[in-house]
Amino acid sequence: MAKEKTVFTCTECGGTSPRWLGKCPACEAWNTLVETVAESSSGAARNRFAPLAGSAAVAVLADIEAAEVARTPTGIDELDRVLGGGIVEGGVVLIGGDPGIGKSTLLLQALDGLQRAQVPTLYVTGEESGAQVALRSRRLGLDHSQVKVLAEIQLEKILATLASSQPAVAVIDSIQTVYSDQLTSAPGSVAQVRECAAHLTRAAKAGGTTVVLVGHVTKEGALAGPRVLEHMVDTVLYFEGDTHSSFRLVRAIKNRFGAVNEIGVFAMTERGLKGVANPSAIFLSQHSEPVPGSCVLVTLEGTRPMLVEIQALVDSGGPSPRRLSVGLERDRLAMLLAVLHRHAGVACMDQDVFVNAVGGVRISEPAADLAVMLAITSSLRGRALPKGFLAFGEVGLAGEVRPAPRGQERLREAAKLGFSVAVVPRANAPKKGSRELEGLTIHPVERIEEAMEVVRGLA
Ligand code: TYD
Ligand code: MG
Repeated sequence: MAKEKTVFTCTECGGTSPRWLGKCPACEAWNTLVETVAESSSGAARNRFAPLAGSAAVAVLADIEAAEVARTPTGIDELDRVLGGGIVEGGVVLIGGDPGIGKSTLLLQALDGLQRAQVPTLYVTGEESGAQVALRSRRLGLDHSQVKVLAEIQLEKILATLASSQPAVAVIDSIQTVYSDQLTSAPGSVAQVRECAAHLTRAAKAGGTTVVLVGHVTKEGALAGPRVLEHMVDTVLYFEGDTHSSFRLVRAIKNRFGAVNEIGVFAMTERGLKGVANPSAIFLSQHSEPVPGSCVLVTLEGTRPMLVEIQALVDSGGPSPRRLSVGLERDRLAMLLAVLHRHAGVACMDQDVFVNAVGGVRISEPAADLAVMLAITSSLRGRALPKGFLAFGEVGLAGEVRPAPRGQERLREAAKLGFSVAVVPRANAPKKGSRELEGLTIHPVERIEEAMEVVRGLA
C-alpha cells in the first residue's frame, strides 16, 4: 500500500494542521491534535469515522422498517447477558480491563463456543504467540478447538485477512498492539489506536463481521485513547473486580444493542472463567457474629439485585484526617460525612474514615448512601448492627432518605437470602399493614435521623 500523507487532526473540532501543535489553530483547545492519515481525494477516508450505516435517501421515520437485530449467543450465559443476548452482525465491541484480569481467557472461551456452533471465528493475537494461545486453550480444556488464530500486529495484514477469510467474529487482542504503517507514531499511541480501531470498525460494518477489540487499561484506569474508542464502537464492556479475589465482573457501560450497566459475574477457576448464575450473595463476607462497621445493602446492577457488604473503619486521624473509599465514590463519601454531622449529629471531623465495598465490586448508584452512613456510625460507636440487617436508600443534602429504583425487587432478594431486618426509604416499603415480607421486617424511614433512631432501637 502506498504511504499516505499524515496530518494532525483536532479531536475537539476536527481542524487540521500539517504539524503537531500544542494548541489547535482552529478552536484553540490544548493537546487535542492527534496524528491521522490525510483524507484522500476519493473521499473514502472522509467516511472513516462514520461507523454506522452508509448513506441513504431521506425517508419518513414511520416508513422505515424497524428490524430487530439478530443475535448469536456465545454460549457463555453471563457474557451474553452483558452483550444484550449475544453478538450482533457487524457490531463492534470494546472490552477493557487490567492486565491479567481474564480478557483473553474469556474471549478464547467465547470464540471456541461460537466455533463449535459452526460460526466462523478468527482470533488475532498481537501480544502472545500462537503457541502461547494454544497453551491457554489446552489449559481451558479446549483440546480440539477449531478457532482460527492469526499472530499479527500490522493493521493492513489484519484487514486483508478479514477480507479474505470472512469470519463472522474476529477478536483483536489487543488493539494497543496493532499498528498501521501509514502512521509514523508508535504502536499504542492514541493516534495509532484511534486510526486502527476506525479501520477495523469500518471493516466490521462492511463485511458484517463482529469485531471485538481488547483494550488495556492504563495506570490511571482509562483505556488508551478512551474517548475516541468509546464513541466509535457499539458496545463497551469493562472487567471489574480485584485480581486477588476469584470473582470477575464484566459491566456494559455502553451498549447500542442492549441495556447499560448490565453485569456478568464470573469466577476464575483452574479451567478458565465460569459464569456465576446466582451471584446475589458472593459479595458478603462471612462473619459468624455481626461486627461493628459492617452494613449490607441491596444494589441493582443492571437487571439483577445483589447483596453487597459495605465496611467502614473510623479511627482517630492526624491533623488532616484521611477519607478513603474503595468501590465507592470518594466525593460522595465526603458529602455523606457532612450530612451525618449536620443532620444526625455524628461527627467524624478528626477521624480517618475508610470505606470499602467487599469483593472489589464498584457501586455507582446513590442507593448505597444509607448503608455507608450506617456502617460509618457503627464503626465510630463500636456497635455492630443486628444480625441479618440491611439498608438501602439515597440520602440527600437535607438529610432526607430518597427511594431507590425497584425497591420491592431488592427487598424480595434480601428476604430470599434470609435477611431479617431492613431499613429502607418509606416509598420503597410495602403498603401499610404489611411491614413483613417472608420473614423480613421492614422499617420505612424518611430522614437519616429517623434511620439512626430505628437502628438504636434494634440494638
Ligand atoms: P488473561 O486472560 O491472560 O488476562 P488478560 O488477557 O486480561 O491480560 O488471564 C490471565 C490470568 O488468569 C492469569 O493470572 C492466570 C489466570 N488463569 C486462571 O486462573 N485459570 C485459567 O484457566 C486461565 C487460562 C488463566
Ligand atoms: Mg491478554
